[in-house]
Formats: sequence, structure tokens, C-alpha cells
Amino acid sequence: MSHAPDSADIIVVGGTGDLAMRKLLPALHHRDRAGQLADDTRIFAVSRAGLDHAGYRDKVTAELRAVAGGWSNDPASPDHRFLTRLHHITLDVTDPEGWGDLVDLLGPPDHRIRVLYLACAPRLFGPVSVRARDNGLVDERSRVVLEKPLGHDLTSARRINDEVGAVFTEDQIFRIDHYLGKETVQNLLVLRFANSLFEPLWNATGIDHVQISVAESVGAGNRADYYDGSGALRDMVQNHLLQLLCLVAMEPPAGLDRDDVRDEKLKVLRALAPISGEDVHRHTVRGQYGPGLVDGTAVPGYRAELEQAGAEPSGPSGTETFVALRAEVQNWRWAGVPFYLRTGKRMDRRASEIVVQFRPVPHSVFPQLDGATAPPNRLVLRLQPDEGVRLHLAAKHPGPGGIRLHPAALDLSFADTFNQRLPDAYERLLMDVLRGNPTLFMRRDEIEAAWTWVEPILDAWRGTPRGPRPYPAGTSGPVAATALIERDGRTWHGDEGE
Ligand code: BG6
Repeated sequence: MSHAPDSADIIVVGGTGDLAMRKLLPALHHRDRAGQLADDTRIFAVSRAGLDHAGYRDKVTAELRAVAGGWSNDPASPDHRFLTRLHHITLDVTDPEGWGDLVDLLGPPDHRIRVLYLACAPRLFGPVSVRARDNGLVDERSRVVLEKPLGHDLTSARRINDEVGAVFTEDQIFRIDHYLGKETVQNLLVLRFANSLFEPLWNATGIDHVQISVAESVGAGNRADYYDGSGALRDMVQNHLLQLLCLVAMEPPAGLDRDDVRDEKLKVLRALAPISGEDVHRHTVRGQYGPGLVDGTAVPGYRAELEQAGAEPSGPSGTETFVALRAEVQNWRWAGVPFYLRTGKRMDRRASEIVVQFRPVPHSVFPQLDGATAPPNRLVLRLQPDEGVRLHLAAKHPGPGGIRLHPAALDLSFADTFNQRLPDAYERLLMDVLRGNPTLFMRRDEIEAAWTWVEPILDAWRGTPRGPRPYPAGTSGPVAATALIERDGRTWHGDEGE
């Protein structure tokens, strides 16, 4: 059960960075406006920016004014109260010398818990945890939050987990996958386990296949340096898409206690059929965007974008900006049901969805003139934009003279139904950290199981001179991704002109 958020000192390492400015501070601000931060909670931004408290508050004010709407300078307002919580400390976290200033600013330990939010490079997760402990900032009530990427392969993920695990217990470590904080993703749990309608069909007998697509129209942009060393498989599939797959495929958990859901997700990760060696070339497609048109605007290709960002690698970059793959979960429930995953940057639109395609009726009593049968039912969970659920059914086309079937949909739009702002994923996740609820965070064994599955794919890609397949920006990816699913007699949702 959730309880009131603890009073906390939240120390954000990387406090002036993109994540802090775009996500963390707006999320904390929204929750503060909603009255959910304890009165004496304080926020300490750590960075090398050389700002004083006032300078930092000005910087944050400028950001929040742009996104929060209805900003008030009134000293009695929640906006003003939020600013007074903010402090900035200039510190190079790798330098053992500067930490004393942070310790002084925090003051002696009191009733507040300490939350160390590491919005910095993953190679610093271990060293910063150690420094925090050596400076007396860690006790058994402290929590640490780790942002992805957690390593770039199994070995580096284990190393980070070992280093951080030497300072914090597993219960104190909150590894963020922000997809788990998205409203629609949590709605997937509710849809499956609070409605009796779907679960009897939720298996290989009722379901033909599942598609999970996360398409972005943005490019690698100003994160080119990080992205070029990562690529879509590490950046999106190893974490976000596999987590979504787990929530679709897992068994009903016994409850929602900290390990109920995580235990079930882990079983799915461990049941994924390995894709390695020659199978990698059959079951995966990687692509890289070239120049093209996105929303009517001409955009450069990935390599040109790298150059513009000054991040050109020594050779031609073989980094994939698109992945499609065919996965299978080897257990009784899912035997023979393919899970098609695809994600890419600079696609024709921004759209993330989970598509559950049910099996066709066993016998059609409505023969169609052209021999076609009713399109099978399809459940589409739309993560973004326009969050909602759509159930595709067959209906009768109005009119006399026989029965003509026509596809129709039952639509549940969350925005229309609940008529309120849908909170950002970080709002939910940060409050869970402050409440000490790790259910929606990834456990060490989950991260390592995900890397274990992904690594042979990376190895096989590395072992071939064939690089990623080109696709023009503003399209739905390389044609080989279409072939990947069409080989099985299926099509990507949205590609069939619906
Ligand atoms: C991040 C990836 O984890 O997720 C980014 O590093 C990606 O490359 C982002 O753009 C997508 O998140 P969202 O919430 O915009 O779908």
C-alpha cells in the first residue's frame, strides 16, 4: 500500500542537465502544486555550473514558466514555495575535495531521508555512491535513483550494480525505466487484471501475435554523442520495449507488493527464446536514417547530424537508429505466438502502441462477396500521443441485401474520459521513490536478464560487415522490417491502411 511521501532531501547530481530541467524539476513542481511534497522537503542540485542558489532558482523559474502554465510570483503561492526548496551547489563529483560544501549545506542528519538522484553519466554511479557514503550522506533510510542507460552490455551493467550495491542495499536502489511510469502502461495492468474480459483469451489459443512499436519523429539530435555509442537496441529495446513485452506476457501477479510484479516480469525475460548467430539476421532488422522529410521539413541523415553536432566518429557510424525484431516467449501460455518489436528515430510520426491481435473466428458464417472473412479482433493500447485503448471489432454495414461486414472500433480516450491532465511518468516515479515503493523500478536481476537476451544480437551485428539498412527520414523504416513480419503472413498495424 502507498503511504504519504517521506520528508526528504533530494540531491540531484546533474542538477542543471537536460533531464533535470525537462523532466525532474517540472515533475516535482507539479507534485508540489498538488500538495504532495512534505513541507520540509528540500532539493539540492549538484552541478559544475557555478551558480548560486538565486541563479539556480532563476534558471528553474525560466524553465517552469515555459511549461507549467499559470505561474505565480506571490510569496504565498505553491510556485514560490517550490523555488524556496531549491538549492544549488557547484561541485565536481569526481573530486574528493568539494563534497564538504554539500555536507555543510545539508546540515546534520535529521528526520528527512536522503535521496541521491544520479542524473549523470553511468560510469559515475559507482564512484558517486562511494563518495556519498564516505561523506556520511548514506544511512539505512537513504535511497539512490539510477537513470538509464545502466551499462552498455551485461559486464558493464554488472559492474555498476556491484559498485552501487556495495553502498546501498537492493531495496534502497531505484532503477528508473520511465516507460513503467506512463499512464497507459499502468493501464495495461488494470486492463488485464481488473477486467475479466480479456484474461481467458490472453494466451496462444486466443492471441495470434503481439506488436510493440515505439516510433519517434525526432532524430538523435543534441544527444548524438551518447546515442552514437548506444543505438536503438540498447537505448530503447533492452529497457522500454522489453518492459512493455513483460507486462503484456507476464502471469497475473499475486498482488502489487514490491516483488510481486517484478518476479513475474523476470520469468518472462528468462523465457525469451535466445536470438543468436545466424538467427539474428533472420529475426532482426537494423536501420539508419538518411536525409528525408519529417512533417514537411527537410532533415539531414543521421551521419550528417552527427557531424553537425561535432560528434563524428572516426569511421562511418554503424549505429542503428531503427530496430525491428521477432521475439518468442517460450512457455505454455505463449508457445508459438510471435512478439514483433520495432522502434526508430526519424520515423513518419511519433506513435507508441501495443497491438494485441486476436485469432480469427474458427468458422465464418458471413461469407463475403469477395471471399474475405471478418478481420480478427485487435486491441490497441496507445501509449502516446492520444493515450487510450481501442478495440477493433467486426460490425454489420448498414443496409438491406445480405450482411456486409465492416471493421469498427470501440474507443476509450483517457483524455476525454477523465478530462484531466495526464501526469508525466516522472511524477509518478518520483513520488514512488519518496514513498519507498519500488514496484515500478527495475530490479538488478531484471536488468541483467534483459542484457543477457540482448547481448547475442549485438555480438552478431558486430560480427558482420553488413551495416544497418538505410531508410529515408520520415518513413516507417527499412523495407526489410516490413518483410520481417510479412514473411509470417502478417502486417504492421497502421500499414494496412486503417
Ligand atoms: C529515452 C531514450 O529513454 O526514451 C530516448 O534514451 C528516447 O532516446 C526516449 O527518445 C523516449 O521517451 P518518450 O517518453 O518520449 O517516449
